[in-house]
Amino acid sequence: MLQVKHLSKNYSSGSQVYPVLKDVSLKVEKGEFVAVMGPSGSGKTTLLNCISCFIPHEQGEILLAGKDISHLTGTALARVRNRQMGFVFQDFMLLDGLTVFENICLPQIIAHRPVVQMEEKARNICRLFGIGKIMEKYPAEISGGEKQRTAVARALMNQPCVILADEPTGNLDSKSCKAVIDAFMQAKTELGATIFMVTHDSFAASFCDRVIVLKDGAIYGELRRQGDRRAFMDQLLDTIRTLSDDGRPAAMEPGLPCDSGERAEGAHGMFHTAALPAAYENDTRNIRNEDTRR
Ligand SMILES: Nc1ncnc2c1ncn2[C@@H]1O[C@H](COP(=O)(O)OP(=O)(O)OP(=O)(O)O)[C@@H](O)[C@H]1O
Ligand SMILES: [Mg+2]
Repeated sequence: MLQVKHLSKNYSSGSQVYPVLKDVSLKVEKGEFVAVMGPSGSGKTTLLNCISCFIPHEQGEILLAGKDISHLTGTALARVRNRQMGFVFQDFMLLDGLTVFENICLPQIIAHRPVVQMEEKARNICRLFGIGKIMEKYPAEISGGEKQRTAVARALMNQPCVILADEPTGNLDSKSCKAVIDAFMQAKTELGATIFMVTHDSFAASFCDRVIVLKDGAIYGELRRQGDRRAFMDQLLDTIRTLSDDGRPAAMEPGLPCDSGERAEGAHGMFHTAALPAAYENDTRNIRNEDTRR
């Protein structure tokens, strides 16, 4: 379903070039729930940004359902993102001026879907995720867990091939974290969704079928869940512990930058706070422009 082949990505500062992703290759099968873990600064968010083509990369291919999307631009890319990908961002990225229901409808509005079908679908998906009663509320009026379930529901509206989630349980208490994981599991079992989730949270990752470990921009290894979830979580904690320099599990240090706080924060800011509305806006504009030209 999703395949990354020999992906390399550099950031440059002045004349200095910093390799961030080094020849990363991975494959996620249809209906698989995969987590990416690794120390802060190892390139997890950059990998997600490259896969969704929010940022360009130097080398490699991103194949979605067998098609290379890495050279797409404008409307073609907007359509792929709108129809085949669903995004769940760490800070939820719900639009404050829209109700829960309207937020969930957004991907279908961008895709110009018929209103009646869209509303029926949104109501069904709200029921599925237990947010039927808060559909008319605004994001400021709902809890963190409800926001997160709304974000997951929105990501599923266009039945994407792949859901890409960056630390979706990052700021949540354990109950809300479980609600998000349940929502993903539900999406996987009931809707056949493929989920690719970046996380620092071994508890969240222990529900996955497989965990890919990234270190210094390269794939360090992967762990496949076999049997007991608790044993898998212990295995993940051990692995992450061995990766961190000072012996503390990296899972305990979400968001700590490895080299420059400013830069790591900037990267988060760029992706979480600006990219989604900007991407939606651009995608809408691109799709609209093409429709006008027809
Ligand atoms: N826009 C940017 N310009 C320059 N360097 C960047 C930029 N974005 C990220 N970096 C650097 O690239 C490296 C990987 O960053 P990335 O955000 O992908 O890490 P991460 O694994 O997601 O970390 P965290 O767990 O803290 O979110 C870091 O060293 C970071 O400082
Ligand atoms: Mg990150």
